[in-house]
Amino acid sequence: MGLFITMEGPDGSGKSTQIELLRDYLSGKGYDIIICREPGGTKISEAIRQVILNKDFTEMGNMTEMLLYAAARAQLVEEVIRPALENDKIVICDRFVESSAVYQGIARGMGIELVYEINQYAIGDTMPDLTIMIDIDAGTGISRKKKQAELDRMERETMEFHQRVVEGYRKIAVQYPERILKIDGSGSIEDIHGQIAAAVDKIIS
Ligand code: ADP
Ligand code: TYD
Repeated sequence: MGLFITMEGPDGSGKSTQIELLRDYLSGKGYDIIICREPGGTKISEAIRQVILNKDFTEMGNMTEMLLYAAARAQLVEEVIRPALENDKIVICDRFVESSAVYQGIARGMGIELVYEINQYAIGDTMPDLTIMIDIDAGTGISRKKKQAELDRMERETMEFHQRVVEGYRKIAVQYPERILKIDGSGSIEDIHGQIAAAVDKIIS
C-alpha cells in the first residue's frame, strides 16, 4: 500500500504552496506522487465543485452542501485515491474529510459526529496516514486570498464564519493529535516546508 497525506487549514493558509514544495521534495527522492484537490480531482467531482462554489447559489442549505462535498469525495476516493494507493503511490490531497468536519460540522454547526458518519459512506477505510494542518488566523488567510482571484461562495462568508473555521481546526487538532499535525502557518514558506518535510520523512522511514 502507498501513503496517503492530506493538507488542511483555513482558506489562504498556504496549502497549495506547500503541496507544490512537498511534491518536488518527494519526487526528488524518486517517489511516485499523485496530487489531488477537494472538492474536485475527477470530472464528476469538478462538476460538483462548480455547483458548490458557485457564488450565485446563496440559497444552498447546509445539508445539501455537506452531501455535495461527500459526493465529490466518494468519486475521488473511488476513481483516484484508492487505485493510486493500491499501486504504491504517495497521494497528497489538498483538503479531505477534516475540511467537512470543520466547515460543515463546526462552522456551519451540523456537528462533527454527523459529518464523520456521513463521510464514512463516502470514504470507507481510506483514511489519511498523515494530516498536516496549517494554522493561520482568519484575517491573514482571507486577505491573502483576496489578492489572488474573485472570491467563491465559501470565501465570501462572514469573518465570523472564517473565525469559526480557524477555531474548528484548532479544536480537531487537539481532539485527534495522533492523526493531525498542526504547523504554525505564520512563518516563512521555506520554514513551513522544512517542518512538513521532516514530518513526512519520519512517517516514510
Ligand atoms: P491555500 O491553498 O491554503 O488557499 P495558497 O497556497 O494558495 O493557500 O496561498 C495563498 C497565498 O498566500 C498565495 O499568494 C501564496 O503565495 C501566499 N503564501 C503562502 N504561504 C505563505 C507564507 N508562509 N507567508 C506568506 N505568504 C504565503
Ligand atoms: P479550496 O478551493 O481548496 O479553497 P482554498 O484554496 O481557498 O483553501 O476549497 C474550496 C472551499 O470549500 C474552501 O472554502 C473550503 C470549502 N470546503 C468545505 O467547506 N468542506 C469540504 O469538505 C471541503 C473539501 C472544502
